[in-house]
Amino acid sequence: MATKTKTTEATALPLNQILAGDCIEVMRSLPECSVDLIFADPPYNLQLRGDLHRPDNSRVDAVDDHWDQFSSFASYDQFTREWLAAARRLLKPNGAIWVIGSYHNIFRVGAALQDQGFWILNDVVWRKSNPMPNFKGKRLTNAHETLIWASKQEASKYTFNYEALKALNEGVQMRSDWVIPICTGHERLKDEHGDKAHPTQKPEALLHRVMVATTNPGDVVLDPFFGTGTTGAVAKMLGRDFIGIEREEGYRKVAAERLSRVRRFDASALEVSGSKRAEPRVPFGQLVERGMLRPGEELYSMNNRHKAKVRADGTLIGNDVKGSIHQVGAALEGAPSCNGWTYWCYKREGKMIPIDILRQQIRAEMEEPRPN
Ligand SMILES: C[S@@+](CC[C@H](N)C(=O)[O-])C[C@H]1O[C@@H](n2cnc3c(N)ncnc32)[C@H](O)[C@@H]1O
Repeated sequence: MATKTKTTEATALPLNQILAGDCIEVMRSLPECSVDLIFADPPYNLQLRGDLHRPDNSRVDAVDDHWDQFSSFASYDQFTREWLAAARRLLKPNGAIWVIGSYHNIFRVGAALQDQGFWILNDVVWRKSNPMPNFKGKRLTNAHETLIWASKQEASKYTFNYEALKALNEGVQMRSDWVIPICTGHERLKDEHGDKAHPTQKPEALLHRVMVATTNPGDVVLDPFFGTGTTGAVAKMLGRDFIGIEREEGYRKVAAERLSRVRRFDASALEVSGSKRAEPRVPFGQLVERGMLRPGEELYSMNNRHKAKVRADGTLIGNDVKGSIHQVGAALEGAPSCNGWTYWCYKREGKMIPIDILRQQIRAEMEEPRPN
């Protein structure tokens, strides 16, 4: 992917580049309200004390790097508040952020997010299908990490590709616990000695799901703690633009080399299943106006326990209850709400047909190309 710049009023946006330096300073230098999504995998502040060994006495390659060390919780909190403020400034009004962490830091990050005005949408448990065992047997196996997904503010119209996630999950609504293996095998980047190039390289599958769920092709995704560039690699494959920030030169090199090998998927494969909510609204009255259903015609509940009559103004009457298809359905079922489109059927030649079929016909007409 060639590097490019998107020019905004004040400054150009350095797209598809890895920026060197401290992410707080770098983010402050970028134009505000310019980024669609931020994915952040900050230092976890693991506070490891001494080496950790396996039962065979081999040393565990734990995260004890200098970039993960903070003198106190207070200094970690200060750092968190500063990078979150710089990140929030960069987000477009409808932008969102994902932050991943473990029990060491995620609760502190969660509080800071809320204090800064972000609006938490979900927390996702990434359940590791192949976690590292607890070698000492003194605590539970730490088999998950937590991701917090938050919009810039409560009113943000954030991107959520609900249908695409459902499709990824074989037609079942995606839940907030994701079972994904940790990064191993051919995906794990190695240095010239065959050791891990980075201690906390994240699996591409995790980023794939995050990006399919909460971005669209062409969106700008920023990662302030770029490491080996997992965010950039997945963004490139999926036709999103990225901006990476990383302080350590060694990691920047690994990431740049990795990105040079990544190819974008075919553009036609990047379209995802659309959200039903984005489909044009069709009032039930239109079905009546257009003669698809006639005033006086009877509709039947899907469970065949209730019926109601269509009225000329597009409302229903059944059992002395009048109102919209949703209101009458809810009243007859004694339920707080009801989706009338999937609840009501009409009859043709003795067969029950959901009224939603008629709505889909109207929508299909709306999408047909018109002759010039
Ligand atoms: C948890 S790792 C991210 C790993 C990355 N997600 C991956 O898949 O490779 C955090 C990274 O942030 C970098 N880092 C830490 N503090 C930083 C700062 N203030 N500015 C920029 N980078 C920083 C570290 O060097 C480290 O590579």
